[in-house]
Amino acid sequence: MENRIPVHVSIIMDGNGRWARERGLERVKGHLEGVSSVRACAGEAVRQGVKYLSLFAFSEENWGRPREEVDALMALMMTSIRNEVPTLMDNGVRFVVLGNRDRLPLSLRTAIAGLERATAKNGAMTLIVFLSYSGKWDIFQAARKMAADLAKDPSGVKDISDFDRYLVTAGYPDPDLIIRTSGEQRISNYLLWQGAYSEFLFVDELWPDFREDSFRRALAEYAKRDRRYGKVK
Ligand code: IPE
Ligand code: IPE
Ligand code: MG
Repeated sequence: MENRIPVHVSIIMDGNGRWARERGLERVKGHLEGVSSVRACAGEAVRQGVKYLSLFAFSEENWGRPREEVDALMALMMTSIRNEVPTLMDNGVRFVVLGNRDRLPLSLRTAIAGLERATAKNGAMTLIVFLSYSGKWDIFQAARKMAADLAKDPSGVKDISDFDRYLVTAGYPDPDLIIRTSGEQRISNYLLWQGAYSEFLFVDELWPDFREDSFRRALAEYAKRDRRYGKVK
């Protein structure tokens, strides 16, 4: 019997803007409410024994949104990082950011590095936040690094699995379950390589409405899936 609790759950947190619009609020209010869903799902993931929870928080394409929204999102990341330290420590959660960090404001980069250091030894769960991330960007930066290594030693890379260590996700398991909220059924340039055999779950709830119960329901749905990896069982 394989493990029914996924080791790595990943979430494309979508629908904040629509949540706000439905209430006649500004989009940023939806992002703010979404932070409570992050807290709720992270807590539930720890309680359920999920080892890795990863969240798609900001894509490379999201830089193309209006300046005010991008600035508000960066400011929200900053305050969340400051506010969540005690909760992460109490729950034994290690915090990691993956993505194109060079594009992030310096103050945010510094805050992220500080929180990563402070939580580095926590072992209950790893919370990965994908910031300024896209799947094609990841594959591209990995290919460039690999090409540089191959130029030095043409026999250095032999197997497809050797490519994994050049991706920003090197050392982390591939997601078992990828959830997307808000009813959209697309990958939006997320974990293109790592999601090769992930189970997908698309739910209609908007991200600010996705709390503990929704997370538990997603795990129950995952438990019913039959993963075959191309083989015959
Ligand atoms: C997800 O919510 C958060 C980010 C992409 C940063 P959206 O902001 O995409 O909300 P909708 O899809 O417009 O409702
Ligand atoms: C995907 O949501 C990115 C994140 C959740 C961070 P988007 O709202 O940016 O995706 P599209 O534009 O609907 O594909
Ligand atoms: Mg969206």
